[in-house]
Amino acid sequence: MRNRIPAALLTLAVGLSPLGLTAVDTKTALKIDQEIEKHNLEIIKIRRFIHMNPELSNREYETSKLVAAKLSSLDLEVKTGVARTGVVALLRGGQPGPTVAIRADMDALPIQETTSVPFKSLNPGLMHACGHDIHTSIALGVAMVLSNIKDKIKGNVKFIFQPAEEGAPQDEEGGAALMIKEGVLDDPTVGAIFGLHVWPEDVGQVNFSTGDIMAGADWFEITIKGKGAHGARPQEGIDAIVLAAEIITTLQSVISRSIDPVDPAVLTIGKIEGGTRSNIIAEKVTLEGTVRALSETNRKKIPQLMESVVKGITQSFGATSTFDYRPTLPSVYNHPEFGQTMLPTLIGILGKDKVLPLQPQMVAEDFSFYAQKIPGFFFFLGVKSPSQTTTAALHSPNFNPDERSIAVGIKLMCHLLLDSLDKQSPLEPPPASF
Ligand code: NI
Repeated sequence: MRNRIPAALLTLAVGLSPLGLTAVDTKTALKIDQEIEKHNLEIIKIRRFIHMNPELSNREYETSKLVAAKLSSLDLEVKTGVARTGVVALLRGGQPGPTVAIRADMDALPIQETTSVPFKSLNPGLMHACGHDIHTSIALGVAMVLSNIKDKIKGNVKFIFQPAEEGAPQDEEGGAALMIKEGVLDDPTVGAIFGLHVWPEDVGQVNFSTGDIMAGADWFEITIKGKGAHGARPQEGIDAIVLAAEIITTLQSVISRSIDPVDPAVLTIGKIEGGTRSNIIAEKVTLEGTVRALSETNRKKIPQLMESVVKGITQSFGATSTFDYRPTLPSVYNHPEFGQTMLPTLIGILGKDKVLPLQPQMVAEDFSFYAQKIPGFFFFLGVKSPSQTTTAALHSPNFNPDERSIAVGIKLMCHLLLDSLDKQSPLEPPPASF
C-alpha cells in the first residue's frame, strides 16, 4: 500500500541540491547554530526535568503540561489532549508553502533506574530508558530555534508530541494510530514527517537507510484444548502440554524452513500457561507471542503457515485449538525517493563518514503508522560518548545517553525540516484509495 504514495506527493524542486550541499543558506545555517547555542542550557535542563519525572504510556500528564507550556510561550498554535495526553503545535512560517511535521514520543518505561546521574528518576519503578526524554527535548529545541527564524520558513512546521509509543495499557487506545485518527496529519495537511530514535552509536553519527528499517510487530495467542486424565493413564486423555511442545518446535521450523532467510522474520513465544498439577494430564495450554517481520509478504504469509501448523498438530491428536492473530504495528518504512532527496542534508551537516547505513532492526516503532500515510524519514541518532567503548542498551536500567546528542539532533531536524519545505512544491493529498 505504502508504495503507492504518488510521485506527485514527492514533487521535488527542479535541480536538487548536489550531495553535501543543503538548501538552507549560510546565514540561516549560522543563525540556527547560534540559536542552538543560546538555548542549549535550557534544553538540557528540560531534558533532565523530563528524565527525573518519567510517566508511563497514556499517563504523560506532567510531561504534556511542560511541553504545551513551552510551545505556548513560543507563540505556536497549540492543541492539547490529542490522543489523550498528546500535544500538537503549528508553527506558521513567514512565507507560504506546504506543511511538514516532526514527531517526538514522550512516554517512559516501567524500569527501576540504576544509573548514578544526579538527575536520576524520582518516580520509583519508572525510567526514561528508551530515550524518549531526549526525543521530546530535541523536538522542543527545534521549536525554540525555528520560532526565532520564522521569516525564513517557506511553509509550516507541525510539532507532534505523541503519547504511548511503547504501547497503550490494555483496553486503551493510544499512540500514533490514535493521533492519526484524531486528525494530526490534517488541517493543514502534512506532506512529510520526520522522526528519530536514540541509538547506542557515537554522538555525531547517524544511521539511515531507505525502505523497511524496523520490523512490523504482530501479536498472537494459541489455545490448545485436549482432554484431562490421570497422569498415569495417558491413553484416556489428550495431552495439551505435549501438543504445545510439538507446536512450539514446529513453529520455529516455519521460520527457518518456509521463510526466505534474506527477508528476516522472528517468532517468539513469550508466555505459556497450562496444566493444574504434576500428576494430571493438562486439558488446556495457552501460548502467547509476537511475530516480527520486515516485509508485508512475510507478515501475510506467517500467520497462514502458523494456523495450519496449529490445526494440523491438534487435529491429528483429536484436540481442538483457537488461533488469534492480530497485526499490531506495520514496519517502519523510509520512502526511497523522499529518503534520497533528504539524505544530502544529513551528509552536508555531519559529513559522509558519519552517516552510516542502517541495518534493519527487528524492534518496532509506531512511527510506522505515519509513514504509511505520508512519506516518512526516520533515522537513528548516536548517543554514545566517543570515549566509551560500549553503552548500555535501550530499555536497560543503566541506559545513559550522552546529552551532547541533543544539539546534534536539533540541528539535523531544523535543517531537514527547512530543506524539505524548500524541496517540495505544494503537496497533493494521497489518492482516495490509499
Ligand atoms: Ni523508543
